[in-house]
Amino acid sequence: MTNSSLISPTAPIGIFDSGVGGLTVARELFKLLPHEDIVYFGDVGRYPYGGRSKEIITQFTRQDIAFLLENDVKFIICACNSASSVALEELQDDYELSIVGVIEPGARAAVERTSNGRVGIIGTHATIGSNAYAGCIHRIDPKIKVFSLACPLFVPLAEEGYIDQEATYLIARDYLQTMHDVEIDALVLGCTHYPLLKNVIAEVMGEKVTLIDSGEETARVALQSLTDAGLLRTTGPDSGMPKGVRKYFVSDVPEKFSKVATRFLGELLDKVTRVDISGY
Ligand code: DGL
Repeated sequence: MTNSSLISPTAPIGIFDSGVGGLTVARELFKLLPHEDIVYFGDVGRYPYGGRSKEIITQFTRQDIAFLLENDVKFIICACNSASSVALEELQDDYELSIVGVIEPGARAAVERTSNGRVGIIGTHATIGSNAYAGCIHRIDPKIKVFSLACPLFVPLAEEGYIDQEATYLIARDYLQTMHDVEIDALVLGCTHYPLLKNVIAEVMGEKVTLIDSGEETARVALQSLTDAGLLRTTGPDSGMPKGVRKYFVSDVPEKFSKVATRFLGELLDKVTRVDISGY
């Protein structure tokens, strides 16, 4: 952790993602830390990251972090699995502030919850191609067998609101058949959008498979890290303080983001501001 004596506990937490998907992580954070101020940046103008190269995702990630730092955040969450997988490890040392990604929290939870030592990972092409989840799981427990699979169509389905339509079941059955065949008992939802499809994925995989939501795990890690560093704004959800101020920024016109965000977050956003991310 950073030299936290220089950072104010009243400063906001920064969260960034390639777009709207990171709101599934923000949602989990709001449940645990409702009184924290949040600055959210969604790079909708350059979305999606999941099919891009390491070089480009790393460049975008640097700019996203620079924007949040300019907003004087006390802690940063990289909600995007693709950015966390390919860019974060190498970038983290360049910053004094703590930046957590979603890979390690998801990987740890998978190791803890598998009983048969067979874990599945689903995510974008960038996340799966990076092998970041498998690497992290094997650092914790080399004996675990990891089966990874890119499910890129889940992202537009979630974004377009196809969360329990027949088309979504068809695609899910097709994608996840191989995960059935290898008899995993834990499946990491390694992409911001997949928690929206949890019901479909759970039904297709069956009740013997535990689904692991990396966003949920990351929110817990953020709470723990802030507590350890003495950077929590309040003592807990019942502290009697008002809800934190939540500011949203995007790199293209805010209208589509605002519309889709309501579905991802389960609440209306007060205000979304456009920023020129190319200047960072
Ligand atoms: N946020 C991305 C992720 O979690 C999914 C969308 C994209 O490809 O940018 O990997």
